[in-house]
Amino acid sequence: MDNDFLLIEKVSKIFETGQDVRVVGLVELSLSIGRGEFVVVSGPSGSGKTTLLNIVGGLDDATKGRVVLDGLEITGLRERKLAALRRDHIGFIFQAYNLIPVLTARENISYVMQLQNRAKGEIEERVEEIASKLGIQELLDKLPNQMSGGQQQRVAVARAVASKPQLILADEPTANLDSKTASSLMDMMQKLNEEEGITIIFSSHDPLVISKAKHSIVLRDGVVVENVFP
Ligand SMILES: Nc1ncnc2c1ncn2[C@@H]1O[C@H](COP(=O)(O)OP(=O)(O)OP(=O)(O)O)[C@@H](O)[C@H]1O
Ligand SMILES: [Mg+2]
Repeated sequence: MDNDFLLIEKVSKIFETGQDVRVVGLVELSLSIGRGEFVVVSGPSGSGKTTLLNIVGGLDDATKGRVVLDGLEITGLRERKLAALRRDHIGFIFQAYNLIPVLTARENISYVMQLQNRAKGEIEERVEEIASKLGIQELLDKLPNQMSGGQQQRVAVARAVASKPQLILADEPTANLDSKTASSLMDMMQKLNEEEGITIIFSSHDPLVISKAKHSIVLRDGVVVENVFP
């Protein structure tokens, strides 16, 4: 395994929230994550889970420190380069699904591949492949508001994975789901991790969901207090 797939080196995040008001998000946090790992980040509310995922995904900047993804230092990249990195290499899954409401499931899943200018036939083939792998074929022509929360999140997982990113970041993907739906969503993510070799990092509060990950990182007040490898 490539143990240095994702390197987080002494990353600090300070939010300037007003004159002389500073909130500390992360404190010199260091971690390394290998290619193909299935990783959970847990910890109490306010411990820095979202801040960490946002910095790793290039959605927010670190105040200090470095993040290196597959040999490329992403901290300090300009917005244009970051946008291309996010589009081509990272899939995001959010707590609130964030599907585009006017697009069908099929169109939502195709969207990133269209931005990448992939051939129409290739996109159609990949949508079918991922839908059958995830058992969501019957949802493909529905709009988000015609689906349950669990169905929308399955489509959001398909969307994140369709363009074959190297890394998926999922911030509390099961927070709005009942425990049975949450558990089947986790099984689906685990299957993608195993079958497509995608590195997945997710955050959660739920002990059952947390127990599915092989590598467990616990944060408190912006620092790593536990880092348990398989
Ligand atoms: N945009 C922001 N402006 C100011 N402070 C922020 C901002 N985002 C996060 N923080 C602060 O940074 C710290 C870490 O927040 P973060 O959202 O990363 O925690 P979390 O672990 O994701 O919590 P939760 O479990 O509630 O989602 C908290 O003290 C929070 O108030
Ligand atoms: Mg959060």
